[in-house]
Amino acid sequence: MRPTNPKMRSASVKQPAYRPASVQSSSSPINESVSTMSSNDPLAQYYVKNQPYYMPVADEVELFESAYSVRMPMMLKGPTGCGKTRFVEYMAWKLGRPLITVACNEDMTASDLVGRFLLDANGTRWQDGPLAIAARHGAICYLDEVVEARQDTTVIIHPLTDSRRVLPLEKKGELIECHPDFFIVISYNPGYQSLMKDLKQSTKQRFGGLDFNYPDIEVESQIVSHEGKVDNETARKLVHIGERARNLKGHGLDEGISTRMLIYAASLISAGVDPVNACRVALVRPITDDVDMRDALDSAVLAYF
Ligand SMILES: Nc1ncnc2c1ncn2[C@@H]1O[C@H](COP(=O)(O)OP(=O)(O)O)[C@@H](O)[C@H]1O
Ligand SMILES: [Mg+2]
Repeated sequence: MRPTNPKMRSASVKQPAYRPASVQSSSSPINESVSTMSSNDPLAQYYVKNQPYYMPVADEVELFESAYSVRMPMMLKGPTGCGKTRFVEYMAWKLGRPLITVACNEDMTASDLVGRFLLDANGTRWQDGPLAIAARHGAICYLDEVVEARQDTTVIIHPLTDSRRVLPLEKKGELIECHPDFFIVISYNPGYQSLMKDLKQSTKQRFGGLDFNYPDIEVESQIVSHEGKVDNETARKLVHIGERARNLKGHGLDEGISTRMLIYAASLISAGVDPVNACRVALVRPITDDVDMRDALDSAVLAYF
């Protein structure tokens, strides 16, 4: 495990819609479950087809597998851009289970999760929402940035996350008994918490929690080098700049420079942008408007490039 921070991960986005598991670049073999799935499988589009690149940071992979084996709902906590989403995609691939990701936001309603009646030429027909599809057919459902959803929406997951394992579709008058393979994962960034925006204790206590944080220098350099396509020395410099900025968190910076941002900087460098400019654009400008803070971060950049 990482020294100061344990090991779990999660993710977030901001559209109400749900999306199929993304296909990550990779040279790894096709997941076995993909080749065996039938074409009329309602979850077919949700399988993660290629092995996502994921570097374990601690024992999060084993812990997640154990949690999955007993279907214990999982909560991934950590700052943005530290690998939570990538971890879930990797675990879905590793477990050979389809992944349905929902980007939570405050306009999301219960119907966006469970489903609604649609009008078509033949009258009305019911359409399952992402949570209902996952519960009915047995997918991993990932609610990304769940605190963004209103609390009255979040309580929908309560009967799914205790021994009942059911999902009531009130409008339809149906009670879905969860498929044995149904598994729910949520993520959130504790840094964004406020009194208005936090999960209820009654929600939190239904989940096992994994803490995610930025990897140590060695591992993060490898990730930045791989994902940003730069040599290890350049990656390491970027990670050191990131470290410096993270030390300023709480001293004028709300959030440190994430792994994602370091990868952006690396990608610009590998596209031929001068490293100092790449760092300004990808690392410094996005996180602060404060002139003194910009100067401090710019000089950290100049110390390395
Ligand atoms: N442990 C890791 N292994 C591989 N890539 C990682 C890891 N952690 C972060 N990344 C990279 O950082 C990017 C941002 O991570 P992401 O999972 O989207 O963050 P989060 O969901 O926590 O906001 C990923 O796209 C991936 O390229
Ligand atoms: Mg994410």
